[in-house]
Amino acid sequence: MSVANQVLERYERVIFPAAKPYHEAPLVVSHAKDQYVWDVDDRRYLDFFGGVLTISCGHCNDEITQRVANQLRTLQHTTTLYVNEIMVQVAEKVAELTPGRLEKCYFTNSGSEAIETAILAARMYTGNSTVIALRHGYSGRTLQAMSLTAHSNWRLGNVVDANVRHVRNPYQYRAPEWLSEDELVELCVEDLEETIATTTQGKIAAFLAEPIQGVGGFVTPPKSYFERILPIVRKAGGVFIADEIQTGWGRTGGKWCGIEHWGVQPDIMTFAKGMANGSPIGCTVAIPEVADALAGSTFSTFGGNPVTMASALATIEYMEEHDLPTNAAVRGARLSERLEEFAQEFNFVGEARGMGLMQGLELVKPGGKEPDPARANAMIDAAKSRGLLIGKGGLYNNVLRIAPHLNVSAQDIETGCDIIAQALVDIS
Ligand SMILES: Cc1ncc(COP(=O)(O)O)c(C=O)c1O
Repeated sequence: MSVANQVLERYERVIFPAAKPYHEAPLVVSHAKDQYVWDVDDRRYLDFFGGVLTISCGHCNDEITQRVANQLRTLQHTTTLYVNEIMVQVAEKVAELTPGRLEKCYFTNSGSEAIETAILAARMYTGNSTVIALRHGYSGRTLQAMSLTAHSNWRLGNVVDANVRHVRNPYQYRAPEWLSEDELVELCVEDLEETIATTTQGKIAAFLAEPIQGVGGFVTPPKSYFERILPIVRKAGGVFIADEIQTGWGRTGGKWCGIEHWGVQPDIMTFAKGMANGSPIGCTVAIPEVADALAGSTFSTFGGNPVTMASALATIEYMEEHDLPTNAAVRGARLSERLEEFAQEFNFVGEARGMGLMQGLELVKPGGKEPDPARANAMIDAAKSRGLLIGKGGLYNNVLRIAPHLNVSAQDIETGCDIIAQALVDIS
């Protein structure tokens, strides 16, 4: 039996089946460096998914790894019962690089926890309970985060929260065809107004949205969407939580935060994933009055852990030094150009969409718009056979997610796209 199969057999014996790997023949990873991942049989793959948009500066990046190793030898753990300076440094960086008055941070270990903290702060600040989230959104796997998530696949155990409402998302490709972009935004606005008027007491704690829906299949709202939605949120007493867990830290190209492309100001933002290049982190940043409203004490044993903070600080400084938001914009423009060509060439590619290095291809049955999840599965397997890792997502599991590390080279974009082109032919 191959080494991979031996590990897989052991995996199945001791790991919950709910931790389900990708691929017909799951990838058993041995090691990784920069843009590449190797499996236990020593096959090399170009990684265009980065552990779900988390490896933002390449695997085991030398500069970041060195700083993490140094920290590990200096101070490993304190909790917030004692103060460590590196946590303050990261919070200062977050305050500097996020827009507007987002100034105070609370650190945790995952995106789900960052969302939990955001909801708690919003409820304590406003005195209201209802949170409005978007259909097709993904917020994580804690019970609160799962109840905010609007994908049946990711809502397990009859999870429900009486204080959560879901409203229409601005998903142009799957909106009725006769609707213009402006009319779709209008429909979303009406749905939000009506939901607040009919299913709440007229007051809400928060409106939570990802600037681009990640797990939802890189659904990218029209430019006018957030500026039309937010006055209604504010009128109902709610704050705006921008979930930047996928879109943050330069991913969308040209800006540090995805929401900056829409020119609106969140009251709270959540980060995780790419913020620390693979170390487990959650970060909630808020305007001072919202942060201060979370009165009393709340404790996270590993939140703000010095080793994780060293990883975050090294990652953010690496991004600044190498101007990775700009690289994401430039490389992303070329990636988008190539994906648009595929949408023209292959009749089962319904749409290419996204921003920066967060680009998706929605696969459909030829000649229509019916989602084709089987072909999306075949595609990630075909790409893997040819040495490229890409992801998938979308409510119907039919969207390919392509998200290389932010320091990707021009050559690797071409190589990755050439492999995508060949794999699209394989599954034709
Ligand atoms: C937008 C978004 N929010 C929240 C989460 C939850 O993060 P985590 O898996 O770190 O708990 C995710 C994870 O994919 C996400 O994409």
